[in-house]
Amino acid sequence: MSRVFIIAILIMTTSACVPTSYDALQEQQSPLSSYWQKNISADITQYSCIVCHHSESIANKSDFVLLQNVEEDYLSKNLEMTLAYLQRSNQHGDLLLSKSRGLEHTEVLELQSDKYLALQAFVEMATVQDEARSEAIAFYKENLSDNLIQGQCTLCHGEFRLAGDTRLIFVDSDMANYQDINVNRIIDYGAVSANNLDNLFLKATGTGHGGGEIIKTDSQDADLLSQFLQLLAPSNEP
Ligand code: HEC
Ligand code: HEC
Repeated sequence: MSRVFIIAILIMTTSACVPTSYDALQEQQSPLSSYWQKNISADITQYSCIVCHHSESIANKSDFVLLQNVEEDYLSKNLEMTLAYLQRSNQHGDLLLSKSRGLEHTEVLELQSDKYLALQAFVEMATVQDEARSEAIAFYKENLSDNLIQGQCTLCHGEFRLAGDTRLIFVDSDMANYQDINVNRIIDYGAVSANNLDNLFLKATGTGHGGGEIIKTDSQDADLLSQFLQLLAPSNEP
């Protein structure tokens, strides 16, 4: 066999084993999205709600409209839409539960059933996450968005830029809602693993970072970044 041939096989087999960052993202999920996938999507929303709550059915004028499981990305999009519904009003968590057990609505789930309890647990998780999230988002907009992220990260961490194939891509400030988009991307990135959360600080301050040292460990930016990350930490005791 020629050497070139052997090398070609080697390259093919090794590159097949290296996960693309897309695969990695699919495997690593936040607790909320894996709960959704395991306990809510198939057993509850697709099984009991979708029949009325898709865009062509009788609840399509309500604020709770979902994609059917034949539609692309229905899992993550339905999670997003449900979270958006819960965020829109702090009555919506109660409404989702009370409607599903039949208050001014068809009874779909029995109060003591496993499914109802799963839905209740999901709403609770989403609400707790919401509170932590809104605090972090407010802090981000006030302290990190302009100086740090737009000013010093987006330069490389944007589509088609130096760090464009990493899992941390920001949009520029000429985009509507850029602050919300970027902070949610950071939060989602950090929610995947403790390692990611640590990397936000470590890489920004130059440890194992393709972009080198962007801010000094004892700078004000580093201090603000670390306060922000504290707000995202799963148990955020000081
Ligand atoms: C048999 C049809 C049907 C099924 C099944 C059904 N719904 Fe509904 N749902 C409706 C209709 C019709 C409305 C709009 C009228 C109303 O608000 O009650 C509605 C409204 C709602 C609303 C209020 C949305 C808003 O505008 O604020 C929520 C929340 C809701 N449903 C949740 C659920 C959940 C969760 C399930 C599954 C566990 C479910 N529904 C299953 C028919 C249904
Ligand atoms: C000069 C270009 C450059 C700048 C500016 C830059 N980075 Fe990076 N960053 C990179 C490159 C290249 C990589 C990919 C190699 C690596 O993982 O370190 C990267 C990777 C990362 C990762 C890992 C992403 C992943 O996929 O897990 C994080 C986190 C990160 N950077 C944070 C930041 C933060 C926060 C800032 C702003 C304070 C910043 N970077 C500014 C070039 C840059």
